[in-house]
Amino acid sequence: MTETWTPKSWRDKPVSQVPTYPDPEALGRAEGQLATFPPLVFAGEARDLTARLADVVRGEAFLLQGGDCAESFAEHGADHIRDFFRVFLQMAIVLTHGSTKQVVKVGRVAGQFAKPRSADTEMVEGVELPSYRGDIINDIAFTPEARQPNPDRMLDAYRQSAATLNLLRAFATGGFANLARVHEWTIEFLKTSHAYPAYEDLAKKIDDAITFMRALGLTPENTPQLRETRFFTSHEALLLGYEEALTRRDSITNDWYATSGHMLWIGDRTRQPDGAHVEYFSGVKNPIGFKCGPSLRTDDLKRLLDKLNPGREPGRLTLITRFGAGKVRDHLPRLIEAVKAEEQPVIWCCDPMHGNTVKTGSGYKTRPFEYVLSEVEDFFAVHRDMGTYAGGIHVEMTGSDVTECTGGVSAVTESDLSNRYDTRCDPRLNASQALELSFLVASRIAEDAGRGKAKGGQD
Ligand code: PEP
Ligand code: CO
Repeated sequence: MTETWTPKSWRDKPVSQVPTYPDPEALGRAEGQLATFPPLVFAGEARDLTARLADVVRGEAFLLQGGDCAESFAEHGADHIRDFFRVFLQMAIVLTHGSTKQVVKVGRVAGQFAKPRSADTEMVEGVELPSYRGDIINDIAFTPEARQPNPDRMLDAYRQSAATLNLLRAFATGGFANLARVHEWTIEFLKTSHAYPAYEDLAKKIDDAITFMRALGLTPENTPQLRETRFFTSHEALLLGYEEALTRRDSITNDWYATSGHMLWIGDRTRQPDGAHVEYFSGVKNPIGFKCGPSLRTDDLKRLLDKLNPGREPGRLTLITRFGAGKVRDHLPRLIEAVKAEEQPVIWCCDPMHGNTVKTGSGYKTRPFEYVLSEVEDFFAVHRDMGTYAGGIHVEMTGSDVTECTGGVSAVTESDLSNRYDTRCDPRLNASQALELSFLVASRIAEDAGRGKAKGGQD
């Protein structure tokens, strides 16, 4: 943190990927109004998440982070949130069971609206318009009016985030996450998926365990751990004006916190060590992350570690690596060496999505599921070789039966992509692919843990 850090000190630094609003007065009004709104999360919750992430650093827990690439105003409904949460719980239970570790659950949700773009404009049939930058900024319709950045969208995004978070909190503690309901988390369409039998086997084992515990007097009714879960929110904090307006001083510690979500991350395009995003992140106390793509230079990584976690606090910093299948071995080892040299207690988290986007002949952006699996495999293998802990995965997924990524046991083909291609931005894993990935990850964690024991118990 610079000595002169304030929630708005990022404004003096070079900033990329934020829009130019046509009416600065309207922007000022919207930001001013946001600054009077209640926080979405409480600083104590962010501290709790940091503590849980510190367990991940020690290898005692695993981080599952996932959700839509971009939330949208159009898709805001109870069913969408419920189906996302169901699949998320299924992934988490598969990981908990396979790893026998706590799974820290962090959604890309309730605030994941702003998108970085590789080009400022988009050309369709000879017409050039500003790129779509997420519903918090402009509208996806290809008209000049829709693509104009509109600051009032920040107020809508805030309200949608509040409503989404409210339902997620209710689901997490109101009975939906009860382990006795493990079968009910399955969405109807998933029952015909080839990934389903493995899940049903696991669900039966959990049933048996619950029956056994019931005999001992431990029931979901008298044991909150069996009936409730902790669920946290996260998003890419790209739109710094929005973040600034929701940055508040915690009355207990006097520290500044981003209250738009529990955890925030910096995208691969905005992590310049001297840039505005890094400046903003350096001053808030939330757990944070940044994306590490192939272009991240080792010296820049060291500067980022120094700026973002000078106190070397475990759980503060998650490095979300996204190189692309076949490139993990080119980059991850040098980054691991740098982190070791700096003695930084970071979480290593694999995003196997963003380095694996390809365009099909028919123009769809997709991600072949075998690339996703391959990046995850290499991530685990490199950490095993280097003696570091592969601590988490970060995925774009949805509870809907979309056809956006090809492959998986239910074999989405290139010609299926047009059937249910609903994403606003990047292609997401559908429920079946998300479960399949979880089983693979669970078995890798279990294998790594087994190897530790076989070595004679040293840790
Ligand atoms: C994203 O997470 O949606 C994203 C844009 O990722 P990255 O910054 O890694 O490209
Ligand atoms: Co994305």
